[in-house]
Amino acid sequence: MFMRAAHVLVFDSGVGGLSVTAELHKLMPGLKITYVADDEFRPYGNKSEAQLKARLPELLETLAIMLNPDIVIIACNTASTTALHDIRAALTVPVIGVVPAIKPAAKLSKTKSIAVLGTPGTVKRGYVDDLIARFASDCTVNLVGSTKLVNMAEQKLSGGTVNMDTLKHEIDLIFKPHHIDAPNKTKVDVVVLACTHFPLLSAEFKRAAPYKISWVDSGTAIAQRTQRLLERTSGIENNPNPYNIAFLIGPQTCATRRKAFATFGFDSVIALKP
Ligand code: DGL
Repeated sequence: MFMRAAHVLVFDSGVGGLSVTAELHKLMPGLKITYVADDEFRPYGNKSEAQLKARLPELLETLAIMLNPDIVIIACNTASTTALHDIRAALTVPVIGVVPAIKPAAKLSKTKSIAVLGTPGTVKRGYVDDLIARFASDCTVNLVGSTKLVNMAEQKLSGGTVNMDTLKHEIDLIFKPHHIDAPNKTKVDVVVLACTHFPLLSAEFKRAAPYKISWVDSGTAIAQRTQRLLERTSGIENNPNPYNIAFLIGPQTCATRRKAFATFGFDSVIALKP
């Protein structure tokens, strides 16, 4: 039978999806990944539902026709919690969305007090309220939104330094409702990293947290789901040496991003000027 290399399209507003491609590479080193970052419209977290719904289905439909992947991964919690249904309706290939890992976080929590750290958009979405009602009804859930952290992850991957004071300030609210001197049994003990940019700041979060806490994200689960779906698709196999390309939609140059994308296994970075 004719075999061709498995190919996925990973989409995010910026570099956040690289936290997902890292997990895909770990599980499937031979997977061909094409990455698209919508820099032109980033950050998504401060855009309205209507703005995202107007842009994303059509953009993803065009990209899927152009790039012909076996699977599309919306590696963005903001886009997935807002427009997943509409994107799926516009595409003929399977679409995997990345949504906050609230279910595993609630299971993991011993104090039954968890926090969800996402973009301002994600933490407002009804989708997240539904996840909490279905999987974390026994927990106190503290919702914290930040756009600054998205920008900080972008800067870090462009070779900039992370300002730890600003980062500490941004995550402070996670710990606020239960004062850090509160008895251990009521403290937030699990934080959901509900934005794909945030695992890229994991080391900094761990350093900044006032006590030891668990941080969970959806990356590994998405990689496993992708593998299962690809196994069910006939006629494809892993390529021992795939050529991975990242396309950046937007006016800026790619120069500062090349190094980061290379570290994450991308062979070239190309600007798609709108
Ligand atoms: N990486 C994105 C997410 O998972 C979006 C960040 C943004 O553009 O605001 O939500």
